[in-house]
Amino acid sequence: MESLRCLAFLLGYAAFAAAASEEGKTWCYASQQCKVPDCKEPRLWAKLYSECGNNKQSPVNILTRQVTYNNSLKAFNFINYDVESNHKWSMENNGHTVVVQLGQSEKVESGGLNGRYKAVQFHFHWGSEMGNTRSPGSEHSIDGERYPMELHIVHIKEEFSSTDSAIKGKGVAVLGFFIKVGKKNRNYESLISNLEKIGTAGQKVEIPALALESLIPEKKDLTSFYRYTGSLTTPACSEEVVWTLFEKPIELEWEQIEEFWKKVYFDKGKTLPMVDNFRPVQPLGGRIIEKSNSNLLLPPGNALLLVPTAAFLASAWIS
Ligand SMILES: *[C@@H]1O[C@H](CO)[C@@H](O)[C@H](O)[C@H]1NC(C)=O
Ligand SMILES: [Zn+2]
Repeated sequence: MESLRCLAFLLGYAAFAAAASEEGKTWCYASQQCKVPDCKEPRLWAKLYSECGNNKQSPVNILTRQVTYNNSLKAFNFINYDVESNHKWSMENNGHTVVVQLGQSEKVESGGLNGRYKAVQFHFHWGSEMGNTRSPGSEHSIDGERYPMELHIVHIKEEFSSTDSAIKGKGVAVLGFFIKVGKKNRNYESLISNLEKIGTAGQKVEIPALALESLIPEKKDLTSFYRYTGSLTTPACSEEVVWTLFEKPIELEWEQIEEFWKKVYFDKGKTLPMVDNFRPVQPLGGRIIEKSNSNLLLPPGNALLLVPTAAFLASAWIS
């Protein structure tokens, strides 16, 4: 699959060879390498940004049988997520993703967070399709399974005035949402219909601001989430990011998902569709993934494992 896509671009390789030495200093996704052979794909990011090689990186695979339930992970308090700002949103193709800058009026607290965080931007990660084969594009996976897309709403602690200072001050929290194929999602229509205006890297478009809550599942479905400490999933891979992955995915219809790679390109010349802009999962190492106990009627994970064992012992004794 990947080699077919690459073949087409290799024919144009000579034209890019001159730029190659400069590209050696830039990071990229594996899907860009056929056109920019010298750029550093995820396995090589640490050569340019050493923190990418550290041991508390994101994304990770979540093994649902190994999570630790934590009753302190209460529901989030979403502030102004229901407010349609009267400012426009600025949506940009930054050469790696589609990112929407926010006015920082939307905030979150509780949910086991240490303080109040304001939303600075959201962006997406997605996959690709070749013929009838669809490749998933989420960054995190659940029991090894990935979703078609993933939405990241990046928040910084209230006291920081810029994302850079929040990264340095270990004050970043990302809310992650999986996106699955489902019914048409009308709330995404204005965002998706504007993708064609930001086809090339560096382009920006103003879109009407929405209530942030219209892009994510209903509040009642957001009490079940995973929590761990990781990193930004793009260079410089800064660590001590507080990650939340919600169990309930967002639904988009397949035709809406496809628009991302049909309309958006990695480059200025529109030669390389923006596809597979995700970082592969990183080792969990000694980290523990916690889960909110949204349904306290269910026994915690460990008890679930003990029950069958006890039943087995009992039956062994009877016979
Ligand atoms: C449970 O979550 C709270 C809030 O994030 C945290 O302070 C605490 O350390 C966690 N408990 C355990 C046992 O991990
Ligand atoms: Zn992201």
